[in-house]
Amino acid sequence: METGQQLRVCLIGTGYMGKCHALAWNAVGPTFEDVPKPRLELLVEVNDRLAAKRAEELAFARSTGDWQSAVEDPAVDVVSIASPTWFHSEMAIAALASGKHVWCEKPMSLKLSDSEKMADAAAKAGTIVVLGYNYIQNPAIRLIKKLIREGAIGEVNHVRVEMDEDYMADPDTPYNSFFSGPQAGGALEEFGVHPLSLLQTLVGDVAAACADQWKPYATRRDADGVNQPVATHDIAGALLRLDNGASGIFVVNRAAWGRKGRLVVQLYGSRGSIYFDQERLNEMRLYTSSDDPALHGYRQILNGPLHPPYHKFVPTPGHGLGFNDLKVIECREFLKAIAGEPAHIIDFNKGLRIERSIDTLARSVNSRTWEQVIQ
Ligand SMILES: NC(=O)c1ccc[n+]([C@@H]2O[C@H](COP(=O)([O-])OP(=O)(O)OC[C@H]3O[C@@H](n4cnc5c(N)ncnc54)[C@H](O)[C@@H]3O)[C@@H](O)[C@H]2O)c1
Repeated sequence: METGQQLRVCLIGTGYMGKCHALAWNAVGPTFEDVPKPRLELLVEVNDRLAAKRAEELAFARSTGDWQSAVEDPAVDVVSIASPTWFHSEMAIAALASGKHVWCEKPMSLKLSDSEKMADAAAKAGTIVVLGYNYIQNPAIRLIKKLIREGAIGEVNHVRVEMDEDYMADPDTPYNSFFSGPQAGGALEEFGVHPLSLLQTLVGDVAAACADQWKPYATRRDADGVNQPVATHDIAGALLRLDNGASGIFVVNRAAWGRKGRLVVQLYGSRGSIYFDQERLNEMRLYTSSDDPALHGYRQILNGPLHPPYHKFVPTPGHGLGFNDLKVIECREFLKAIAGEPAHIIDFNKGLRIERSIDTLARSVNSRTWEQVIQ
């Protein structure tokens, strides 16, 4: 790409996350006035017809049903990968080989060896790579990071991270290929990376883990009413030892009735504690032992213009950002990194560290002992 030239974007996939990427690419220029508006060049879907339809809806100039040619297209500078996880490594490595910057959804891939290949490809390409860890972009999470850095809760000695949803809670959800087979994954593989991304951002990485996982429903009925064995685990948990010596507890559960997008981080330090829950993403709670003892209690702090980059969306406090806004912020950080500015991102190296932590938990489940993260 020539200096000063408009960045030309290719988007692969337009499902749940692909639409988020498309909205972010459309919004990033108007939201952050200092960002040159990217050109939405090429949209890729599973076939030409769907691609053309989605390109029209999401304001992309061209479309194709062939992702291989798209990632090599000389009129593309950046590839947004929002396809199912089993495509990530092949698509990202091909895009990087063509010298593109890559914004790829989490997790990196289904296999640690593929994630390692992705990190190698990024190192060789020397272009910018960002993973879709949107939750770290919340102004509340940035505030928590700042508070920890400034010592507001002293030295963090214990953390708890939990992610709970209920999309697998119903025992009558019919058996399908996602419950076994090469593309199957449990809560650990599917979204364990999200709480670990917050852990990495706020405190540090996992050094060792002692984990287990559970199946609330060992069988599910298929379309013919026949009970089929379920290979995946809807619940996983672990004791953690972090790089900085802090202790931790990790729980993920996708069969947790009533929980819709609960992603809780509790941080306990020598001088206070912090509580955050993504289901209430516009607030965090702070307790400091230095407060007047008669007034000891958690203080609720709402996102507002003093918590950047909230002010770029809304000028008044307490009015709230949403999930898609976090993706716009992530897109802005990606553009900052491309421009050579410091950026708040998880690249493939940091992402690989998260994948290695997941692998360590999985090894611990099998060995039934503590396992160290292998670098
Ligand atoms: N960051 C987050 O919070 C978050 C949330 C949900 C999902 N994800 C991740 O996003 C990725 C996509 O998940 P999703 O929920 O959006 O899935 P989805 O099924 O809703 O969307 C996938 C899209 O990719 C398209 N697609 C599939 N194969 C393709 C191919 N060969 N070429 C082009 N397009 C293809 C599909 O037609 C579909 O539009 C996954 O890796 C998932 O883990 C991230």
